[in-house]
Amino acid sequence: MPHPDAERWNARYAADLENWLAQTPRQLLREHAQLLPKRGIALDAAAGVATNGLYLAGRGYRVIALDISEYGLKLARQRARKRSLQLDAAVCDLKKLWLPKEYFDVILNFHFLERAAFESYRRALKPGGWLIFETFLQRGEAAENLDYYLEPGELRQAFEDFEIFYWHEQDLSERKRVTAQLVARKPG
Ligand SMILES: C[S@@+](CC[C@H](N)C(=O)[O-])C[C@H]1O[C@@H](n2cnc3c(N)ncnc32)[C@H](O)[C@@H]1O
Repeated sequence: MPHPDAERWNARYAADLENWLAQTPRQLLREHAQLLPKRGIALDAAAGVATNGLYLAGRGYRVIALDISEYGLKLARQRARKRSLQLDAAVCDLKKLWLPKEYFDVILNFHFLERAAFESYRRALKPGGWLIFETFLQRGEAAENLDYYLEPGELRQAFEDFEIFYWHEQDLSERKRVTAQLVARKPG
């Protein structure tokens, strides 16, 4: 039986291919990349077409991209080949994530929320490893599925024992879709 998230996202990528492929790495990542170690292993969680993971691959990282959409990951692999970058990609349901202990130097989580993955991220980061996380905040609208949106303060609280280098929540009055952003380091 097909996974409902996979069906939905395969269709979204197919319908809006040009836009996804034209996407540039997230500003939060670009602005904090100089803090990261020069080399290492990075996880791009819910990578989609892996724009962010490929950015790190271009900086010398070995990158593992995980996503439920095999179509998104197929595009990610094609992009990696075209740019002669190495990318390992695997289809995976992040609702049931298990990761090896202290394996990654960097974990990226952009525009995706699965609270059950938080514990895996903590465990899978090496001591001193970096978490760069940005996703959408609840706006208190009736139609919102709260599984997909952070509560104000939730992201910071979830990683409050980490060394927090940057944390920002956009003002709810600012735009239609607002995000919480976190750049934090696992205690070493
Ligand atoms: C908004 S896109 C974000 C893609 C990328 N991180 C970025 O910032 O451009 C959300 C991604 O989450 C993936 N996704 C949705 N549900 C998932 C699940 N249960 N397990 C793994 N990935 C999932 C989708 O396939 C999609 O690629």
